[in-house]
Amino acid sequence: MDLSGKYYKAFIDRQSAIEKQYSPKQAEKQHSKGKLTAHERINLLYDKNTFEEIDEFVTPADQPVEFGKVDRAYGDGVIVGHGKVNGRLIFAYAQDFTIMGGSLGIVHAKKIAKIQEMALKMGSPIIALIDSGGARIQEGVASLSGYAAIFQNIIHSSGIIPQISVIMGPAAGGAVYSPALTDFVFMVNHTSYMFVTGPNVVKEVLNEEVTAEGLGGAEVHARKSGVAHMIYDDEENTILALKKFLSYLPSNNVENPPVVSDDGSISDVNEKLRDIIPEDPNKAYDVKDIISQIVDRNSFFETSELFGASLVTGFARLTGKTIGIVANQPKVLAGVLDIDSSTKGARFIRFCDAFNIPILTFEDVPGFLPGVDQEHAGIIRHGAKLLFAYSEATVPKITIILRKAYGGAFIVMNSKNLGGDFSFAWPSAEIAVMGPDGAVAILYRKELAESKNPVELKKELVKKYRDKIANPFIADESGYIDEVIDPAVTRKKIISALNALNNKWVKVPARKHGNMPL
Ligand code: HXC
Repeated sequence: MDLSGKYYKAFIDRQSAIEKQYSPKQAEKQHSKGKLTAHERINLLYDKNTFEEIDEFVTPADQPVEFGKVDRAYGDGVIVGHGKVNGRLIFAYAQDFTIMGGSLGIVHAKKIAKIQEMALKMGSPIIALIDSGGARIQEGVASLSGYAAIFQNIIHSSGIIPQISVIMGPAAGGAVYSPALTDFVFMVNHTSYMFVTGPNVVKEVLNEEVTAEGLGGAEVHARKSGVAHMIYDDEENTILALKKFLSYLPSNNVENPPVVSDDGSISDVNEKLRDIIPEDPNKAYDVKDIISQIVDRNSFFETSELFGASLVTGFARLTGKTIGIVANQPKVLAGVLDIDSSTKGARFIRFCDAFNIPILTFEDVPGFLPGVDQEHAGIIRHGAKLLFAYSEATVPKITIILRKAYGGAFIVMNSKNLGGDFSFAWPSAEIAVMGPDGAVAILYRKELAESKNPVELKKELVKKYRDKIANPFIADESGYIDEVIDPAVTRKKIISALNALNNKWVKVPARKHGNMPL
């Protein structure tokens, strides 16, 4: 084909115009801030030569009134398209900070909305690579309505296709709500930040000095607010982690997650599991040591690692199939459930339930965190979220009670009467209304007060309580759990249980939606 002919001249001219649009100087500006360009990010994300860009040549809307200036660049500051990530169809948009600060004008917004609607129609995940100064000031209300359309699309697609946001620069103002509405948020340390109002406004309104990093950097959102689920030190590692993360997820809510081959190196019968829990019931251990001895080798991908860390959540594989893991972490605050860990667990469980991912729970929890701070901040309301999420989930649900399963926490952590499908306990399990110290103090208050040697008496009574009540055998013999198992066979038991639950089907009565305590 002769591309120099008159029919093709305009085509070629446009092609070379867009090539000239992206100067090395622009790229250098991004690189100097430790950031990649939007094109570089897309190239890193997608399998080689699979990305197809659409709407590459659209141009910004005309300014409604004369104020500031509009860069007439092709594409209007956002790359949108589709391609393959690890061989699967994925839609994405990447905002280009080098064009009007990646700000969102109406054309930019329509491009995003178009790709969101396509992703929903095709039942494919969508990734947002965000690097934007927010609503484009020059376009006024049009850009605000553009955001509204994007929010509406995210909400329509929620629970149907996985939606993931990666913050790779600023996300300011109301613009933070588009990532917040998606399923998972990745952030890059030191080069990304999210806040509703920036440091200048904070200074003006509250007379408080704070940097962008201190107000809404990756570490803050990963550790304190819980807005960010995963953070990494640079963009390359963030995108590589995102690609790995996607491999655990199904494309949509009517598909199952992809199955990968298991190298078989984790034995179904693993005697190491007998030695992880310390003899002393008050001694801590790392529940991740147990998880890694049960799931397929190196398959555990932790989510929200730094937030609500007394509860561990994440995806893993068993015989190559994705499972969601929720585990109390005795190493942090003795594994207690507080506000952060409750909301973290609830959100994770709801994601698993929406996307056909069975939930495996490891339980060792002394209860809900007591105290004025937690009560006043609403531990009742937030703890209820975890309870609601477990009970509402209809995917296969299996619990392994490792050690403490006291009181309300026993009920909450997927007990059988709350709809848990299988409940196994290790011989180290302590299942009772409350821990030995509390129980003895209430039941034997008078005797202890009158005793000449209350310390010795308490020790005796605590031992008696453990032997007679706080053990797994009573629950086993009365059918409140399914079986007390040898820790060594835990993987085998879980695999059999998941096989038995393969065709689990729960009919939920029609309703508009439940009313989770938010
Ligand atoms: C138009 C914008 C812009 C915006 C940045 N730019 N933000 N243009 N609308 N919102 C342009 C700048 O004018 C500049 O253009 C270029 O992008 C790079 O910006 P700089 O300020 O030079 O970059 P930097 O110093 O890195 O600072 C980045 C920034 C800052 C922190 C994001 O630009 C900023 O504070 N922008 C405004 C953030 C904001 O408040 N947005 C509105 C949020 S309200 P030139 O031509 O000089 O290169 C919102 C409503 C959403 O989003 C509603 C949803 C409910």
